[in-house]
Amino acid sequence: MIPLSVPEIRGNEWKYLKQCLDTNWISSAGGFVDTFEESVAKYVGSRYAVATNSGTSALHMALHAAQVEENDEVFVSTLSFIAPANAIRYVGAWPIFIDSEPEYWQMDPSKLIEFIENNCSFESGKLYNKDSNRKISAIIPVHILGHPCDMDPIMNIARTYNLKVIEDASQSLGATYKSKPVGTIGDIGCFSFNGNKTITCGGGGMIVTNQKASASSIRHLSTQAKSHPIEYTHDQIGYNYRLTNIQAAIGCAQLEQIDDLLYAKRNIAKTYENALQNTHGLQLMRCAPWATHTYWLYTILVDPDVYRNSSRELLTVLASENIQTRPLWQPIHKSKAHESSGVYECPVADRLSSHALSLPSSSGLDPASQSKVIESILTN
Ligand SMILES: Cc1ncc(COP(=O)(O)O)c(C=O)c1O
Repeated sequence: MIPLSVPEIRGNEWKYLKQCLDTNWISSAGGFVDTFEESVAKYVGSRYAVATNSGTSALHMALHAAQVEENDEVFVSTLSFIAPANAIRYVGAWPIFIDSEPEYWQMDPSKLIEFIENNCSFESGKLYNKDSNRKISAIIPVHILGHPCDMDPIMNIARTYNLKVIEDASQSLGATYKSKPVGTIGDIGCFSFNGNKTITCGGGGMIVTNQKASASSIRHLSTQAKSHPIEYTHDQIGYNYRLTNIQAAIGCAQLEQIDDLLYAKRNIAKTYENALQNTHGLQLMRCAPWATHTYWLYTILVDPDVYRNSSRELLTVLASENIQTRPLWQPIHKSKAHESSGVYECPVADRLSSHALSLPSSSGLDPASQSKVIESILTN
């Protein structure tokens, strides 16, 4: 089987894990947690970083820190893994789904503006959705597939209407927007380190921010809001979202190799691009002139009217040859899980979702396996 995206364990992972076991620091405190936080902060250039046990819990904590309240509304990319929309519901707020732009497939800032101009009022420094009468308090742009959203217009909208910006950079650690690392442009950035991400802890997440108060409140809330160093007293309903030292040890070893892993991903992308660029009916993923792309999952659009198969038919053919590919996510505005959030028209995301196929993109993908994938696409 040629897998879609699997971890590449070739650095100090074993050594650091052994250190955890030998020293008995295996749980939710320990030197690797601190080092991982410091290393991620340094890598992206943020003042603070707080580790969590998943990217989803990072988003949940970020929404708390951004003071998104029950019955607020939050703009979020509809073409995304479902986690950011779920996190919005965890705090009792409601998502407003924003369509993708067709070029790079990210949140379309012009659709944000259109929604605000057609559906909102701005009173006493607060933005309201005129249909629901709810306050809109934040934007979650999701940098999908290793490419950034166009952040300047998103930040302008946020400043104009007093909205907090939480970047969901789970899929795009290492990508930059106009030379700025994703995750550091808005108020708070979130990352995921689950098994299929560019670097992994097995499972884990990270919140980065330059705001001391946000970092402190996230640290407090994600560790059960314990208010005394010795006594078991608590001043809020907290969560146990801590990363373990074992997970952080793997994360530290992985982060040491990120330049090599990204180099490998970019080479894999270049090879796909060179081989597939003239194939009728396939549209390849692009990188904006203002971006650096990490090509987390190399994704193509398959036009069923021109190429011989639809994206799903191609998926089945490749699976029969032991090549694992996968579609993009159902746009969240179409998800049964979020049907109570209202009805949204997002035709670009709908088309991208039905045409897209992500190809094997592990940083350890060997040239022979990649040639097999390419050959199958060209000949089926
Ligand atoms: C865009 C996005 N947000 C959030 C998450 C959630 O991360 P985790 O699986 O670590 O909870 C993921 C990945 O799984 C993701 O792709």
